[in-house]
Amino acid sequence: MDGNGRWAQRRGLKRTEGHAAGEEALFDTVEGALDLGIRWLTVDAFSTENWKRPTDEVRYLMGFNERILVKRRDEMNERGVRMRFAGRRDWRVPRRLLRHQDQSVELTQANRRMTFTIAFNYGGRAEIVDAVRALVSEGVPADKIDERAIRRHLYHPDMPDPDLMIRTSGEYRISNFLLWEIAYSELVFTEVLWPDFRREHLFDAVREFQARERRFGGIEDG
Ligand code: FPP
Repeated sequence: MDGNGRWAQRRGLKRTEGHAAGEEALFDTVEGALDLGIRWLTVDAFSTENWKRPTDEVRYLMGFNERILVKRRDEMNERGVRMRFAGRRDWRVPRRLLRHQDQSVELTQANRRMTFTIAFNYGGRAEIVDAVRALVSEGVPADKIDERAIRRHLYHPDMPDPDLMIRTSGEYRISNFLLWEIAYSELVFTEVLWPDFRREHLFDAVREFQARERRFGGIEDG
């Protein structure tokens, strides 16, 4: 969900107002994903690198995330959405926010129409490090550590690898997002800044995805 800051700056607004405008983009996209029958949707809400931002912005983002959860979780629940979080629960994340995350997970845990994962204090490298640490602390011998073993120790082992990853705002980078999981994902980049993103942009990206030929390292069929 990239480009909030630039969207705001172009309008002479504070960066935080760009984040605020990103809320409508997010929930319109969630509705679009539900319309399409997408079963798994994951968004990057706050990365392990985002702590480097000015303290005021970090503080704003913590409160913003909390407010969104409180405001939207009932609606997500009514839509049949299961909410989940992926990332490190370290001391820097306010306890109140963790509590609201836990309550959102609990409220929506029985839903199966779509799993909506919010990556928060998430880093792709940190996730792999955490998986390896878990294996080591379980005493798994080196020769038993393979791709399946690592996958089983990712934050959500049941989450299928994404078919499609969309990055907004004209940035052509992965920025440490879902590094393990996107090994064979199709990547779509768009110039649209996140606050301007709507379900139609998701549909465009899905159409682009459908036109791709996926070989997963093999060769074309037939
Ligand atoms: C990146 O834009 C965006 C973020 C760091 C936060 C986006 C979060 C939301 C829209 C809401 C998430 C909340 C929940 C509960 C799902 P940027 O600041 O990097 O923009 P820039 O690249 O223009 O500076």
